[in-house]
Amino acid sequence: RRVYVLNGPNLSRLGTREPDVYGSQSFAELTALCEKTGRELGLSVEVRQTDDEAELVRWLHEAADGGIPVVLNPAAFTHYSYALRDAIAQRTAPLIEVHLSNPAAREEFRHTSVVAGVATGTIAGFGMRSYTLALRALADLLDDTPA
Ligand code: DQA
Repeated sequence: RRVYVLNGPNLSRLGTREPDVYGSQSFAELTALCEKTGRELGLSVEVRQTDDEAELVRWLHEAADGGIPVVLNPAAFTHYSYALRDAIAQRTAPLIEVHLSNPAAREEFRHTSVVAGVATGTIAGFGMRSYTLALRALADLLDDTPA
């Protein structure tokens, strides 16, 4: 089954971007990790990144139209993009919000997620493991055996 891993602004700069906060691994390494985890779970994972809100909204429409489950790191859009929230609200398949860092432990403006209320759930604070945990959660949700 096809799954999207969508990433918002500045995440292409992982590895060089504030490594004390986001770690030293690159976006290419994150992509490889998600693809490998997907293979282990029997999911065909497609990883994308954009700095452009409009493009991210279009990808979410695509996911909604195709019933494609999503792991989403909205990055800074998390905190203020109602356009993203409204796009996410149109989906029917599960969508898991992820963050590398734990926004609740950081600056005040990061404590608000306008996306969380329309996501299936949120995984934050585990570095790149936030993504692998989210993919595992998706695989679990999709293979609808009771918990
Ligand atoms: C982030 C947290 C956001 O607050 C920040 O704007 C990001 C990355 C994370 O993965 O920890 O760009 O989403």
